Amino acid sequence: MGICSRSEAAKAARRGDVTVDGVTVRRADMHIDPERIRVAFCGQDVIYKSAVVVMLNKPDGYISATEDARDHTVLELLDERCRRLGLFPCGRLDRDTVGLLLLTNDGDLCHRLISPKHKVEKVYYFKCQSPLSDPDRERLEGGVVLDGRLTLPAKLKLRDDRMSGELTLTEGKFHQVKRMLEAVDNKVTYLERIEFASITLDQTLARGEWRYLTADEESVLRRAAELE
Ligand code: URA
Repeated sequence: MGICSRSEAAKAARRGDVTVDGVTVRRADMHIDPERIRVAFCGQDVIYKSAVVVMLNKPDGYISATEDARDHTVLELLDERCRRLGLFPCGRLDRDTVGLLLLTNDGDLCHRLISPKHKVEKVYYFKCQSPLSDPDRERLEGGVVLDGRLTLPAKLKLRDDRMSGELTLTEGKFHQVKRMLEAVDNKVTYLERIEFASITLDQTLARGEWRYLTADEESVLRRAAELE
């Protein structure tokens, strides 16, 4: 569960720091059912979870990747435990897009959340260069052509200045929001994801900060992914 590496775990067991149902176990090759059996490490219960999901408030300047030779990656913002758990970003936000990014080590969950098939809503707050007209709104909601295909129906809530608002999408094409605004001869000047599958960005997290999802948030996510 990301507490230590495999070899450190074996050493800890030999030292007598691991108990299984209260009994010290010095061999690291024992097979157990982690759903039923209580394992403790240095006296602390190890909470077994088959998958982990983290919410990050992504800052500007980080790329949504696990490693990169040139740029800072969002993984650098997490801790050692998350890196050991093998978390990866669930979909991508551009380098200059900020806000809600989920990271998980559950490939199936991630695939379902980003595939348009499951119609999981992602809400983006944007600012753009010039006011959007009613026909622009109709095109953005009804679909513009990107990569030779119409974008799926979207929802647009415009603020009074008509130069900012919230766009709700159920798919995630490359630079989708920016390219949709370009398709109506406009330009995004600020982009922030504020919601993913009804989970809202935790306002207590500063940019660059993260936390594990609560059990309630995880079940919202699993329902949205049609896993529950
Ligand atoms: N749309 C974009 O254009 N960029 C993002 O980062 C996310 C959605």
